[in-house]
Amino acid sequence: MNTPPGDPGVAWLDEAASLISGNPVNVDEVLGATLAQRDGEAERHMFFPTGPAGNFGAMQRFQDVLWNNIGSAGSNPPGGNHTKSLERALLAWAARLFGLPGDDWWGNATTGGTAGNRAGLLIARDRFPRTQHGMTTAVAYYSAAAHYSVPKMLHELNIPAVRIHTDAYGEMDYGHLAEQLRPGAPAIITVTAGTTMTEAVDDPGKVHAVLDAGGIEDRYVHCDGALSAIPLALDGALVTEGVDSISLSGYKFLGTPRVGGLIVGRKAAGRRSERVSYISAIDDTPVGSIDGLPTAMMWYTVATQGEHGLRAQAHAARRLAAYAENRLNAVGWPAWRHPWAFTVVFPTPPTSIQQRWPLANDTIGQSHLICMPRTSREQVDAFVAAMEAVTSLQASA
Ligand SMILES: Cc1ncc(COP(=O)(O)O)c(C=O)c1O
Repeated sequence: MNTPPGDPGVAWLDEAASLISGNPVNVDEVLGATLAQRDGEAERHMFFPTGPAGNFGAMQRFQDVLWNNIGSAGSNPPGGNHTKSLERALLAWAARLFGLPGDDWWGNATTGGTAGNRAGLLIARDRFPRTQHGMTTAVAYYSAAAHYSVPKMLHELNIPAVRIHTDAYGEMDYGHLAEQLRPGAPAIITVTAGTTMTEAVDDPGKVHAVLDAGGIEDRYVHCDGALSAIPLALDGALVTEGVDSISLSGYKFLGTPRVGGLIVGRKAAGRRSERVSYISAIDDTPVGSIDGLPTAMMWYTVATQGEHGLRAQAHAARRLAAYAENRLNAVGWPAWRHPWAFTVVFPTPPTSIQQRWPLANDTIGQSHLICMPRTSREQVDAFVAAMEAVTSLQASA
């Protein structure tokens, strides 16, 4: 059978799981193998900002039923099978944490950081006039270190986009932004709070200064805070002045065992919104049906940890990151991190390491590990020991 393209080495159709082979499926065996695949790597999974989730045992009874948070946070869809009151509480908490004006903000649950970026960019596009052919008059700017979802969503939303250089540590190059500004065109800028590879944080204040100097008054700044918006804000270190919307992933810092996210922003007026009689609810969302369980889990984390607990977790994770940075340097593998970061950056290790550890690499020879609140010192030590073995081998060669 012909199959769609995939990575070399990945069997597109696993014979045991196949639903079209005509053979009976041994469901227990297939499910067991799927879990074993996850468990087999869990201890070495510290290169993406996730990992073994926190303790969500209290939410076990939510697992086997459908939660559909369709429609606006401010509406309750019919049928009772939604977690809207938790969604509202979570969004109000995030809006307050990010310093949005109490009397003029909006928010939606999303399916993750990617969907949050789409939602922010969509609202940005709709704030500005269109040409007679329906094209936006705005131009979007994003840095080379922005998550790949940003150019992807700009493409999807048909917004002309300009890629801006970064400095060596992953922060937007504001000088390059100034050079690239399209005179007279409204500007949509995506800044990142915690870039994917180095956890760099762009400065909205510097972006506004560039736009002021360039004479661009019509502007929208979206902050992709997938990883770092919450932990930075908990320390009062997230600049949100002049930021129109902020999105994040729930499974990253909050550690939910389900993929989800949220977006909040200022100026509720002018957002697309309609009452849909079929769902007896207002719809002002970027989606349709959306799982209410991840949202409930994000709420649960905030409700049980409180800001104090979350802050303590962030501080402990940063201490572990500082430890990992020191240990890697001590064994001869040069590593660095931003002072606020969970992310430790180092040159991409050799293939022997990559075969065993599920590393995140970029195209310029950098890799990283990310010490999330759920990462243990033992995990870091195991990786450093593997790196030490490699560096000693290299030294003796
Ligand atoms: C900066 C940044 N933005 C967005 C995303 C995408 O988030 P999600 O995987 O929840 O769609 C990521 C994920 O790694 C990220 O690092």
